[in-house]
Amino acid sequence: MIADLSPSDRSKYACALHASQLVESGMKVGLGTGSTAYWLVHHLAERVRNEDLKFVGVPTSTQTRDQADAQGIQLISMKEAGRLDITIDGADEFDQSMNLIKGGGGAHLQEKIVAFGSDLMVVIADESKRVKKLGKFPLPVEVLKFGSTSSQMKIEELLIARKYKDFNVKMRMKDDKPFITDEGNYIFDLKLNDIEDPRGLCSDLNIIPGVVENGLFIDVCGAVVIGYSDGTAKITWKKEIA
Ligand code: A5P
Repeated sequence: MIADLSPSDRSKYACALHASQLVESGMKVGLGTGSTAYWLVHHLAERVRNEDLKFVGVPTSTQTRDQADAQGIQLISMKEAGRLDITIDGADEFDQSMNLIKGGGGAHLQEKIVAFGSDLMVVIADESKRVKKLGKFPLPVEVLKFGSTSSQMKIEELLIARKYKDFNVKMRMKDDKPFITDEGNYIFDLKLNDIEDPRGLCSDLNIIPGVVENGLFIDVCGAVVIGYSDGTAKITWKKEIA
């Protein structure tokens, strides 16, 4: 099957396959969202069918819930799960400290709750997601609809105060309408280019009234599995580089 995939999909398939082996029977598993997490759900469903793997999954979006459900993975809510053993998810960028930008698919709110609610978060990605400094990928910020214009102005004021130049704060659109998240909120995408202080920016954004969550994931990822187009994958643990 892997031979029929594009090079990009082969990388995603490979890292997801490698990470799927970290799941053991009896675990509670956070299931990420996106085109890489798609392959994770695929591989886990295969293990359920072929190896009698028994685990419960907590999906991070309606998209993942629908896929996992259709493929026969047993699902529970985050509320029912309490704490999770592991979460495996994609990322839009990861840096040398394994800090991340997520939310390209608009699911970072649930993804962040699930990641921080897990004993271990593992990122699956191809090499293109590895960056020296976070910020080339626009940073998603989920905001309540109520007062979203005011929240946008406060975000812009924050960026000016933090000395960002040539930034851009743009409401995410879909089919000429504002994109709506699973929680019924809007997303602003912040084009920043370089994020000098991801931890500080993350905290400052989240204290703006109306901001629900931003896509910076700081100090939560414990390992990254990089997939390559030749079908191989390599895991690096944070404790190896810390
Ligand atoms: C979803 O909101 C995102 O956080 C995704 O996990 C992230 O965008 C990675 O997606 P891909 O695996 O599709 O690149």
